[in-house]
Amino acid sequence: MKETDRGQWKSKLGFILAASGSAIGLGNIVFFSANAYKFGAGAFYIPYLVALFLLGIPVMMLELGLGHRAQRGFPEAMFQAAGLKGEWVGWFGLLNASVITMYYITILGWVLGMWVGAFGTLWEPTPVPAFGLAAGTLSNSMSHFFDMVSKYDTVAYVVIVWLMNALIVWWGTKSIEKAVKIFVPLMWLFMIVLILRGLTLPNGTQGLLLLFTPDFEVMKDPEVWQGAFSQMFFTLSLGFGIMATYASYLPKKSDQPTNALSISFLNCSFEYIAGLAIFSLLFCFAIVPRASTLSMTFFVIPEGIGAFPVGVRVFGVIFFTLLLTAGLTSSVSLVEAVGAGIIDKFGISRKKTVAAIFVLGTIGSCCFALPKIIDPGIESDGTLGLTLLDMFDHWAFSYGLLICGFLECVLIGWVLGAEKLRKSMNATSRIHVGPLWDWLIKLVIPGVILVILVLSVGRELKDGLYGSAMQTGHLTNLSVLVIALWIIFTVGGAFVLTGAGVYHRRRKRRTHTLLDEGE
Ligand code: TRP
Repeated sequence: MKETDRGQWKSKLGFILAASGSAIGLGNIVFFSANAYKFGAGAFYIPYLVALFLLGIPVMMLELGLGHRAQRGFPEAMFQAAGLKGEWVGWFGLLNASVITMYYITILGWVLGMWVGAFGTLWEPTPVPAFGLAAGTLSNSMSHFFDMVSKYDTVAYVVIVWLMNALIVWWGTKSIEKAVKIFVPLMWLFMIVLILRGLTLPNGTQGLLLLFTPDFEVMKDPEVWQGAFSQMFFTLSLGFGIMATYASYLPKKSDQPTNALSISFLNCSFEYIAGLAIFSLLFCFAIVPRASTLSMTFFVIPEGIGAFPVGVRVFGVIFFTLLLTAGLTSSVSLVEAVGAGIIDKFGISRKKTVAAIFVLGTIGSCCFALPKIIDPGIESDGTLGLTLLDMFDHWAFSYGLLICGFLECVLIGWVLGAEKLRKSMNATSRIHVGPLWDWLIKLVIPGVILVILVLSVGRELKDGLYGSAMQTGHLTNLSVLVIALWIIFTVGGAFVLTGAGVYHRRRKRRTHTLLDEGE
């Protein structure tokens, strides 16, 4: 394939919008606040800042440098850097990214459903017949949500969101660039509107104080650090080669260290101001501080908005439009990275690849959106889809991201050589990255990740497998099944795809030799 066939960003702005659009997503708007809340707000931001400088920015440079150097999708870029081991890591990353894409899009489907509701019904008490609940039994947003997920409409919303994704990646960089030029400015605008609203509420500024007052006691807990480090990988879209893919569409002469700084700061400042908006909004109404990411998105924040004296609908619609635009520019990057990996490795056409991803991805997302299968054993979670989503998220988010980040740093640091990559980045950059970076990549980051992983596995063994502690033995079986599926899909799948890559290369070589002989 000629280099130009892959497409290229038309402008530097297009790239920065696309990459920051990928980074800024649900992670920034709700997951950050939910995590910060979980770990005691002020206890979170110091680990978060440490994570940004120690691992966020350096790994962002690594991924941008790697993709830019190879001008290929992630598995091929990793193959060029570190041979077959690298290629395996590339596929492992993309398969984890596929898991995240599937449930991320299911969540976006629910956001679409809530967006529709925000024009009216969301703000009124709704009965939830599937759960046998009368109107007014739950808070309005909660009953609306549970009623929605227990109907087949959700499946339709999920299909719509997948269609939007497929359409945006259909023409590659050209169409992605067009979409982000509309969506990214819109989401900044909506965020600013929400902050102004939050801060002008009575007591709104109290939330800020909480977010900014450090709590050193809580910081002794390793879980806070694991939370901050996973959040950093997730929010910056690192670990799965997403940024490497976007950087592979940059022209030869472009400056990765500066790009890495711009994207990281744009993302983290958006996240911080989103935190301000949400904390001020929740504080004003003294809403329960502890909330899971999903309940934050679908219950807690809408409840806060529902309590506004005026403009409930307007701000509700703005909030869900913000989630939709920010989420779409992120899911598009996930779909694009998976697509580019396949296109560049196997030379399949973009349209065929996108069509295949659309079909398989929609099936996967619909499984997470399955309504009605309400299992008495998991009553508190509602539907089987929700429970599955929560469990897959646990493995792909808390483990997959960190394992990929670890392997990526070790392979690039030691096999390709961090110094080699740094020198190639420095050749076209204004700021020069120093040798300290090499040691961050080779030792410090893998070391930190390893400690976190060991601690988490230890905790998991002690407290019982994730999810199983929740209820009956029957959930333990589900937890085991989910881990088994996750390992077969990501670890096994990566072996199959690496094998297919080897076969493809051999066949190509043979065809070439035959052609040469024929001449
Ligand atoms: N960064 C996005 C967010 O904050 C999510 C996301 C997009 C992502 N691409 C990713 C997370 C790749 C991990 C890996 O919502």
